Amino acid sequence: MTLCLPKKATIIEVGPRDGLQNEKTFIPTPVKKEFISALKKAGFAEMELTSFVSPKWVPQMADAAEIAASSIGSGVRDFVLAPNRKGIERAYMTGCRAIAVFVGVSDSFNKKNINKTTAESMEEILPLVRELKEKGYFVRACISTSFYCPYEGKIEEDRTVELCRQFTLAGADELSVADTIGMAAPHEAYSLFSRLKHEFPDVLLTAHFHDTRKMALTNIFAALQAGIDRFDSSAGGLGGCPFAPGAAGNAATEDVVNMLERMGISTGINLDLLMDAIDIVQPHLSRPIESAIYQLYLGEASRERAGS
Ligand code: HMG
Ligand code: MG
Repeated sequence: MTLCLPKKATIIEVGPRDGLQNEKTFIPTPVKKEFISALKKAGFAEMELTSFVSPKWVPQMADAAEIAASSIGSGVRDFVLAPNRKGIERAYMTGCRAIAVFVGVSDSFNKKNINKTTAESMEEILPLVRELKEKGYFVRACISTSFYCPYEGKIEEDRTVELCRQFTLAGADELSVADTIGMAAPHEAYSLFSRLKHEFPDVLLTAHFHDTRKMALTNIFAALQAGIDRFDSSAGGLGGCPFAPGAAGNAATEDVVNMLERMGISTGINLDLLMDAIDIVQPHLSRPIESAIYQLYLGEASRERAGS
């Protein structure tokens, strides 16, 4: 029996945003720009560049306007994130054509993250989604705590599906459905994504797995089986939400690319150039990069230096 796999998959690189937002030391803006530029050279056609959030809440994203001004390109889908009207207004001042809004299924998480209940956030965001669509923007809706919440525990599928429904009815182009704290197991990933695929056949569905329990790659494989062919991941496996205790980084892009390509699924990403991009940001990080592929690359580089 053969596996049912797509020929191609799209990777949405979230490193410059999700990857860096949790870094405690401010990464110089020119380094972020160089990182983004190198990632683009590696072949990413969709990327989250930054987020228009309060710099008091997330100091690392304080340079969002400057990043957006210099890094938004044409012919690629460059996302900026915004959680509210103020964030969208800031995004309107840039040349961006693709905006990601975000909300948590769980009230407790959403309050910690955005200082509103889920219903209060949706009341503000849904009219904004309609407004963005009228203005011709691509709208991505990021759905946090779709499987588990750090405060409420297990989230029932119905609650996630209902939030997704509200976004699709408002006209969102894409749902990025997230396992924020990296707790979902593959059977849960398969079950939720199968259901979303069935319920929302006309929207782009993307899986966003954090790797806290080292199940992100397995969950990607499970989501592939459910018919998903779009995956968020972060170069170097960086990332995590500052308001989701215990959340580790995203699935490492280089490990995802390696796995998909080994299965014959084309990603369009050049792994060598991706390593170059990680090399740019790596010296500025507060934690080591632990992805399998980057570790192999470092091993080869040091053997070459030793002349063996
Ligand atoms: P608040 O304190 O309730 O905001 O924070 P407020 O409306 O009361 O306003 C307070 C001040 O913030 C005012 O300024 C506003 O102008 C300003 P002041 O008068 O004091 O000078 N403000 C803003 N400034 C810049 N940009 C804005 C903005 N909005 C208000 N957009 C707020 C509410 C939403 C601002 C805050 O909670 C916040 O910034 N939260 C962001 C949290 C965040 O970025 N989390 C990480 C991203 S989500 C994530 O990582 C999950 C994801 O990866 C998927 C997954 O894995 O689950 C997407
Ligand atoms: Mg995330």
